[in-house]
Amino acid sequence: MSSSVTPTPADKFTFGLWTVGWQARDPFGDPTRPALDPVETVHRLAELGAAGVTFHDDDVVPFGADDSDRQRHLQRFRAALDETGMTVPMVTTNLFTHPVFKEGAFTANDRGVRRYALRKVMRNLDLAAELGAHTYVFWGGREGSEVDLAKDVRAALDRYREAIDTLAQYVKDRGYAIRFALEPKPNEPRGDIFLPTVGHALAFISTLDHSDIVGVNPETGHEQMSNLNFVHGIAQALWQNKLFHIDLNGQHGPKFDQDLVFGHGDLLSAFALVDLLEFGGPGGGPSYDGPRHFDYKPLRTEAADAVWASAAANMRTYLLLKERAAAFRSDPEVRQALADAAVPELSVPTLAAGETYQDLLDDDSAFERFDVDSAGARPHGASRIDQLAL
Ligand code: GCO
Ligand code: MN
Ligand code: MN
Repeated sequence: MSSSVTPTPADKFTFGLWTVGWQARDPFGDPTRPALDPVETVHRLAELGAAGVTFHDDDVVPFGADDSDRQRHLQRFRAALDETGMTVPMVTTNLFTHPVFKEGAFTANDRGVRRYALRKVMRNLDLAAELGAHTYVFWGGREGSEVDLAKDVRAALDRYREAIDTLAQYVKDRGYAIRFALEPKPNEPRGDIFLPTVGHALAFISTLDHSDIVGVNPETGHEQMSNLNFVHGIAQALWQNKLFHIDLNGQHGPKFDQDLVFGHGDLLSAFALVDLLEFGGPGGGPSYDGPRHFDYKPLRTEAADAVWASAAANMRTYLLLKERAAAFRSDPEVRQALADAAVPELSVPTLAAGETYQDLLDDDSAFERFDVDSAGARPHGASRIDQLAL
């Protein structure tokens, strides 16, 4: 294996404990793999070259554990982090497994459930801050409905906003260096989930009192479940300075959430994504400098020891695509094809510096004398670019 595709912590690869730890229970079948000890996960991922792990509160401390049990679990987990040098850049809350959340958490009709959910998050925010996490993800898996008339959606959005603003206020008052990242998903487990896409989430964030510390955590498969273009969603999140975190995985079009290994879905889209993240920034550098976080599930058919090879596949695929994207960007033929398609010209503002709409009205070369036929006949050549990428 060439060294450029051997992951190191400098690549900032992170994994949720729940990814490799998924026991492969699905709506139709029992688990096919035994439970994984988070301590083992930390060690195995460190050996593979990952930089860190992320978790839901209940991934490290079982739901309902008493205080002494909680301390015991946390001590072991911290020791594993110390031994390996693994970091915890992101933490999140499980607001979906226990039946108490069956009708929602922040947006449950039952006010008691909403208050309980806030407390569960606040307790875990304290832990996130202690562990040095800079991002806290909110995936509202149970925030939604199956029956339109059983949920007042505008009231639900009021409550969602109230929850995020209350928690943001808490983080600011405590002085935690944590930002929030909302993770959109269109459905599953709910029939319809609130904030179903990156676009919905960005619009919601703009209504918050504390929108300055709230961004998005888009997941490849979740946008593709809605038949949306993930690369475009990420580009818009970057454009709005709201790409606070990312969940990388693979998906084959609109169907159930597959959570495949990164790149094991739409490979051309994965290539364009890595190109955007790594070379889409100013001067061709990275446009995103946060963790490259994998939120995937090893296939249900994989044996327990194959889980680690599938984890490694995420990182290797990413690095292979990064290597190929660098080659693509420096290839003279690609540069020529991009120039022929006028790709760089889009960065030139439509009006000249200082030009007003009146100047535009006065410019007859822009309209009266503009040769629409020759502009319409201009070759574009996007398909050549696609083929070069392929
Ligand atoms: C999914 C989601 C979840 C969340 C995670 C964080 O696949 O539906 O990605 O895995 O990311 O639970 O809260
Ligand atoms: Mn998913
Ligand atoms: Mn996710």
